[in-house]
Amino acid sequence: MCGIIGYSGILDAKDVLLDGLTSLEYRGYDSCGICIFDENNKFHIIKNIGKVESLRPLVNKEFPPTLSSHSGMGHTRWATHGGVSSENAHPHKAGKVFLIHNGIIENYSELKSQYKLDNKLQSETDTEIVAYVLDYLYNKQNFDPLKSIRELTQLIVGTYSFLICFEDKPGSIYAVRKVSPLVCATSLSGSFLASDLTALIPYTKTFSVVDENTIIEINPTGIISYDLNTLQKTELKQETITWDIDSAKKGGFEHFMMKEIHEQPTAIDNTIRPRITNDGLINFFDDGIEDNSIFKNINKIQIVACGTALHAGTVGARLFQSKILIPIETYIASEYRYQNTLVDDKTLVIIISQSGETVDSLSSLKKAKAENAKTISIVNVKGSSIARESDCVLYTHAGPEIAVASTKAYTVQVALIYLLFCHIAFVRDRVDESFVKKFTKNLYDTIPILQNLLQNKNQIKQVAKYISKSNDAFYIGRSLDYVFSLEGALKLKEVSYIHTEAYAAGELKHGTIALIEDGTPVICVCTQKDVSKKFLSNVEEVKARNAFVILIITEGIEYNKSISDICITIPKINDDFSVFPVAVITQLIAYYVAYAKKLDIDKPRNLAKSVTVE
Ligand code: M6R
Repeated sequence: MCGIIGYSGILDAKDVLLDGLTSLEYRGYDSCGICIFDENNKFHIIKNIGKVESLRPLVNKEFPPTLSSHSGMGHTRWATHGGVSSENAHPHKAGKVFLIHNGIIENYSELKSQYKLDNKLQSETDTEIVAYVLDYLYNKQNFDPLKSIRELTQLIVGTYSFLICFEDKPGSIYAVRKVSPLVCATSLSGSFLASDLTALIPYTKTFSVVDENTIIEINPTGIISYDLNTLQKTELKQETITWDIDSAKKGGFEHFMMKEIHEQPTAIDNTIRPRITNDGLINFFDDGIEDNSIFKNINKIQIVACGTALHAGTVGARLFQSKILIPIETYIASEYRYQNTLVDDKTLVIIISQSGETVDSLSSLKKAKAENAKTISIVNVKGSSIARESDCVLYTHAGPEIAVASTKAYTVQVALIYLLFCHIAFVRDRVDESFVKKFTKNLYDTIPILQNLLQNKNQIKQVAKYISKSNDAFYIGRSLDYVFSLEGALKLKEVSYIHTEAYAAGELKHGTIALIEDGTPVICVCTQKDVSKKFLSNVEEVKARNAFVILIITEGIEYNKSISDICITIPKINDDFSVFPVAVITQLIAYYVAYAKKLDIDKPRNLAKSVTVE
């Protein structure tokens, strides 16, 4: 969950590291730190609690413009072992070793007693213990970085990507990883290591994913990759970055979240267009699926994901189970791993993940593969671990999503799962060509609807002002509207810190309605015509308990005007596609509530974008 960056080259290392950490900060932002070699090969460690902006003045103080530096590494932390303090911030130093870490070392306590470290440690972290063990090995291995790193990997249990510098090897940074992500790149301005591409975009268009079986060394002349076992040099496989530098900037918006909400029409179009032919049919040829046998020889589909990605999968499952006519089960990834989910070679497992690095989703994928399932992943980040591990990957083309709260990633995931399921229904002869053509047309038609919605945000600001004064809020819906509510509630609670629950409207009176008090905001989602009458009776029930009712309803659905305090109408749209406008409205509600409360919208407390710990 942390962000790490290493640099060696001709640029000023402190600027590269601080800018890189700012780009990676969405991965964790409890504390941060850097260590750099100055022009005299003297090491400096500067670290602090809080965000990168608070580190900058400290670095500038220690590094006046007259002192140059061309190599170093930096870390932005999401606390796991040990609280948020500057002692626990990385880098950690032990003897000649400087080390930063993303991941968790499970056998830290055994290592601590084995190497008698009790009186040496300055921090409560697992990382500092690893630094001491490595320093011991470095001495034992006669100051050979490669041999000592190889031996370290044989002793530690857990997940990691480590960047390591040795005091007597200025200019070189070593890296090794297991599970936790790491990429490297080289350009005319130097060589880089980073947790993800966002830190590299300003410098290069090509990168390599660091393989788990290698040790990487970067130095001013380039990158060297070594086989972890033999320590012989190996080749790095290069990939191309398709994101441009503007896509990782705010582009005139005050927050990434608002920018990304606005990018949805384009992101959906970019995601669906390459998979829809001119005559409105669907294929996945460009994704490498030419033979549809993977969709025919199955008797069950399982969708596995976390958070927003799981909600996207659940929308697809709810809509298509009745069309594909085989069970489509949805699982929380952290639960899936430890359940007997009755997988066999006739099961298709679909993993959905924006980052492609969520460790529970990745482990679920590995479990499904070990049980002979066929696997497809829906991923946004190219070359990520989930993308590489699955039999087949379908990329969403949302561009980088920087705000911790997922917005555009959700709607493109829904759009892509819709296409995939529509295609599966077609190849299994459950729907015909005319259904597919109508379906893809409806999907395209949502794009201008979203564009219009995004131009009329004033009413949502008013709603948000009201909600921002509450401690609790509820989302309710029936059928698909209930599934949309799950995502609406997650968005609101994560950015506004208002306790928000989503309930299936029919379930309210089995307990939860006891929580409705005078003025409690209840956001009622009503877009599914077949259940709208029953749903509107549930709205009457909360109104009768004096809830403040915010009704989101599709134009044309009849309702009694007195049941809502505020009504947001969405233009007429086929029920199956209302997920898109509802998503945009609920995202905007969350954004404006957090805005009214003056919160850190892009980096909500306690969260991180990429959840690479279990
Ligand atoms: O990168 P992933 O899609 O695998 O992340 C899964 C969840 O952590 C993520 O969807 C999270 O719930 C959202 N960022 C919340 O807005």
